[in-house]
Amino acid sequence: MNVARHAAAQARWEYGSQFHWQRLRAGMQQGELPWATQSVRLGCGRDALRVVVDEIGPSRLWLPSYLCQELVTPFVGSDVELCCYADGPLEVSLDLRGIALRPHDAILVVNYFGLAGRSRVLATDVQGVTVIEDHTHDPCSTWAQSSQADYCFASLRKSIPIPDGAVLWSPRDRDLPQFPPQEPERSRPIQQLLSGMLMKALYLDGHRVSKPSFRQLLHDGEEQIAQGTISAISPLSGAVLDGFPFEDWRSARRNNFERLATGLRSAESFAVIEPTDPHAAPFAVACVFEEADSCAVAHRSLVQRNVYPSRLWPLDEPALEGIPDEHIQLARRMFALPCDGRYGPGDIDRVLQAFGHAGLV
Ligand SMILES: Cc1ncc(COP(=O)(O)O)c(C=O)c1O
Repeated sequence: MNVARHAAAQARWEYGSQFHWQRLRAGMQQGELPWATQSVRLGCGRDALRVVVDEIGPSRLWLPSYLCQELVTPFVGSDVELCCYADGPLEVSLDLRGIALRPHDAILVVNYFGLAGRSRVLATDVQGVTVIEDHTHDPCSTWAQSSQADYCFASLRKSIPIPDGAVLWSPRDRDLPQFPPQEPERSRPIQQLLSGMLMKALYLDGHRVSKPSFRQLLHDGEEQIAQGTISAISPLSGAVLDGFPFEDWRSARRNNFERLATGLRSAESFAVIEPTDPHAAPFAVACVFEEADSCAVAHRSLVQRNVYPSRLWPLDEPALEGIPDEHIQLARRMFALPCDGRYGPGDIDRVLQAFGHAGLV
């Protein structure tokens, strides 16, 4: 890299937001994949949940009250009745026996932020209930590896740098749906997301690429990625998955989480949500403030320093009815800092400096 481009790359450092394209070294560790035996690869996480619901045709679908509302939207107005049960990232336990399930119901359980350490009873005495687990935030966790659910899925595009892609598998050897074809209407959003990722990589390397242009592409692609008919994964993302170093990325995530959380634990204005599972490799460091206003102020000062926390997830305009006010408020008081394998210790230290300069630690 020449001197001018190196200086530009230094000045363009930023943290968070969507992935940029990564150059992956060959020969890294893939590790054991919970979906190794049999799986279906789909375009996105919403496709995976839709395909299971289409396959089993439940009369009711139970969804946790703290949830990404995009995951709910495909089912609003459909034949399946949506029910809400109380669960969220601060709950320390979950027992499906306390939920008024009936035969032919399906229930979605989420590993929030990959924290996974709470106590869980995920079996139910009710016959004919289908348990579906969402492992998006830590696809290779101990929980995912030892799951007894009927179906598990993970939106892989959320945890690794691919423009589209999700995986669905069945720990209980349930029939998996047929592989769908790749839908041509997905080509446009995939192209937008991929172009945005490539342009962001060029930008971060100091090339002459404008930030608004790649942000627009990433935004537009994201808006359209789940539209229309359920789709298979794209050939490009499928090829990346075949050799993706899941194990190495997971250990980077664990190390990044530990370094960042350690630096933020002394903060007085917010608390970090801690994993209780010693093997957890959380998706993000989630910071919970006392008040929504102080969270918004902190968010703004970090953005001014090129640190982009994620809002996981806004619940102000919920698609699901019955979300307790406590969870709507929690969503306003919290932001999350991703800590995936695109970052190393130097990045984490810069984030900690940004928190220091913003007077947050
Ligand atoms: C936990 C979780 N599961 C599933 C999804 C849906 O994945 P996709 O956007 O690939 O449809 C999301 C999206 O944000 C998510 O956060």
